[in-house]
Amino acid sequence: MLYQKYKYLAIIAGLLLNLSANASDPQIHMLVDTCIACHGTDGSSVGSATPNIANMREALFIKAMQDMKSGERPSTVMGVIAKGYTDNEIRIMANFFNQQQAILHRQNFDVQKAQKGRQLHNLYCNGCHTIEGPTDLLSNNLAGQQMPYLRHRLTEFINDADPTVSPLMKNALKHFIDNNSQESLDYLIHYYASLGGK
Ligand code: HEC
Ligand code: HEC
Repeated sequence: MLYQKYKYLAIIAGLLLNLSANASDPQIHMLVDTCIACHGTDGSSVGSATPNIANMREALFIKAMQDMKSGERPSTVMGVIAKGYTDNEIRIMANFFNQQQAILHRQNFDVQKAQKGRQLHNLYCNGCHTIEGPTDLLSNNLAGQQMPYLRHRLTEFINDADPTVSPLMKNALKHFIDNNSQESLDYLIHYYASLGGK
């Protein structure tokens, strides 16, 4: 587990090594204009199947873009979109979206499910996707993430459809399902949605 964590950290650190995202404002806006149609002006998506990317960690953003660009990570639209950008442009966009403050839109969630989800999150997920406590550099903050996107992503992980998923996440998910059930992942999705706008 610790070894895996260091190995993953090394990959992430490697992606950040050449991070010299120098670009002028008009250049940046030319690049991100395409993205905001789906991901929202500030990276806070309004379409429910599109993830929020505001404030996303740069290394994870770059990894996601490159994995979708290569086709290793399955995607509906992003594979084609990502192919249109160079490594440097991806770095510039990673930096831009990282600087945007996440605006968490309100979603319809079930209060009771969200309460159960909070407990499960603190037991099984908060160690990496920190919501309460200091942030972990290796994983994204899931607070306010779009419910259909979360459902879709977890299903991909369960079905082994994404070979780029971190082994840390794979093991955590297996541990969760072994001790609970696949259905109770729904509580977690309601919990993350409950952290969005009121
Ligand atoms: C047509 C809508 C659309 C556009 C335009 C779009 N995206 Fe996406 N984006 C998506 C969807 C949907 C996903 C989920 C993966 C998939 O199904 O393609 C996604 C996923 C992502 C992810 C992965 C997030 C994560 O949490 O792993 C990143 C990063 C991303 N997009 C960045 C961008 C950037 C940068 C641009 C502009 C160059 C862009 N997107 C343009 C719809 C869009
Ligand atoms: C040991 C660390 C660890 C634990 C525990 C963990 N994860 Fe993850 N998770 C990761 C890493 C690393 C990634 C890949 C980077 C990222 O997307 O955040 C990830 C990715 C994800 C993603 C995809 C995010 C995206 O933007 O596409 C979801 C959803 C997720 N985890 C949910 C959970 C849930 C729910 C739990 C608890 C049952 C959990 N994780 C527990 C490390 C962990």
